[in-house]
Amino acid sequence: MKKMLNVALPKGRLGEKVYDMFEKAGFECPSIKEESRKLIFENEAAGVRYFWVKPSDVAIYVERGAADIGVAGKDILLEYAPDVYELFDLDIGKCRMAVAAPRDFRDNPQKTLKVATKFSNIAQSYYSSKGRDIDIIHLNGSIEIAPILGLSDVIVDIVETGTTLKENNLEVFETIVPISARLIANKSSFMFKSEQIEKIVNSMKNM
Ligand code: PRP
Repeated sequence: MKKMLNVALPKGRLGEKVYDMFEKAGFECPSIKEESRKLIFENEAAGVRYFWVKPSDVAIYVERGAADIGVAGKDILLEYAPDVYELFDLDIGKCRMAVAAPRDFRDNPQKTLKVATKFSNIAQSYYSSKGRDIDIIHLNGSIEIAPILGLSDVIVDIVETGTTLKENNLEVFETIVPISARLIANKSSFMFKSEQIEKIVNSMKNM
């Protein structure tokens, strides 16, 4: 029997683009396009099974082998450093990790900087590399509110179009790192399902 390739896709707008890339690579699964609340889709003939998961959970499925491959943002890979292979930059889902603050913010290097973020490890290593003492305030969303309410001096967050910052009177102070979606693989699947995985990587390289 053919080995099924298990693929974790990030639920949402990015996921649909990602699925189209897999389809072009020869791993089609038409049922995934039907409107439903189902989370798992399979095409036995093409040897592929897809599941929609929360974008920030893709790397967990892949690291633990519940998925052979998946697509995760570089932000998640930097923040959680999962033990997976990063195979390919899909060049979609592009944005950047940045430090943002209210327009009138002036940094005082004598004072510990209060940083609100969902990405505590990225923020910590960025400021450590600059030798700057910070106090991390870990939040799970709506980070932009923190400096407005005086909870923090700055935020470290993802900026795509910049609209969210603008509408909350914040602006980018420093860019930490550019972000995009990456194809990742479970380390043992990469050996045991190498043929299918290579086919996907090679095909995506030519898109
Ligand atoms: C991200 C980020 C910003 C927003 C930036 O949130 O946290 O809030 O996108 O995008 P923009 O520059 O185009 O305005 P996301 O939508 O991923 O959801 P979240 O609230 O879960 O962080």
